[in-house]
Amino acid sequence: MAAAEEGQWVLMATGRSPTNIAVIKYWGKRDEALILPVNDSISVTLDPDHLSATTTVAVSPSFPSDRMWLNGKEISLSGGRFQSCLREIRKRAQDVEDEKKGIRIKKEDWGKLHVHIASYNNFPTAAGLASSAAGLVCFVFTLGNLMNVKEDYGELSSIARQGSGSACRSIYGGFVKWCMGKNNDGSDSIAVQLADEAHWNDLVIIIAVVSSKQKETSSTSGMRDSVETSPLLQYRAQRK
Ligand code: ADE
Repeated sequence: MAAAEEGQWVLMATGRSPTNIAVIKYWGKRDEALILPVNDSISVTLDPDHLSATTTVAVSPSFPSDRMWLNGKEISLSGGRFQSCLREIRKRAQDVEDEKKGIRIKKEDWGKLHVHIASYNNFPTAAGLASSAAGLVCFVFTLGNLMNVKEDYGELSSIARQGSGSACRSIYGGFVKWCMGKNNDGSDSIAVQLADEAHWNDLVIIIAVVSSKQKETSSTSGMRDSVETSPLLQYRAQRK
């Protein structure tokens, strides 16, 4: 970390990621910690010009802790979803050099550095429009860019999945399948692109926002209730 000792520098990366709308929906987890679903799902990724999250990640030796702001308000990073993504990306961080700023970060130094993250959604947050899918894939992707992570999209999708299940599908444009996978460690629970964004060029999706209020039941608790109480959900999972 060449310039780190002075503690004066800040290095930043910004990314933008779209949300996605399921045509075959993910509903129900078989593993809550790793976010492993009970069924495969398929979605269409929206145009990032329309519905997206934009996230800037900054790192500086002068930051004493990791912090995050969502739509201008500070939120806690202590929840498992953010911590899993931060941990998995930090593990894969590589050397970074910014010649102009005279900054060199060795991969082993990333464990000692803290990040500040600011994210904005250009559509209502937590109102049923999959803001956490856009937000969490953007979080992973932008953090990965800053830390020079070399993993392919399949691997990044598996990390984003640990932040918010359907976030894994937003890594690709077009039509995307989240393969539920069979492994207990979730290594095969990844997204694959079925057809790219040019495949069905005249497809138009109209989203009518009837309320931008935060939804009363979170997806996490709705899914948990369904898994615990719905014989229909079990039937669906068994008969796919
Ligand atoms: N949840 C909803 N929107 C988000 C965002 N942009 N970043 C992280 N988490 C989110």
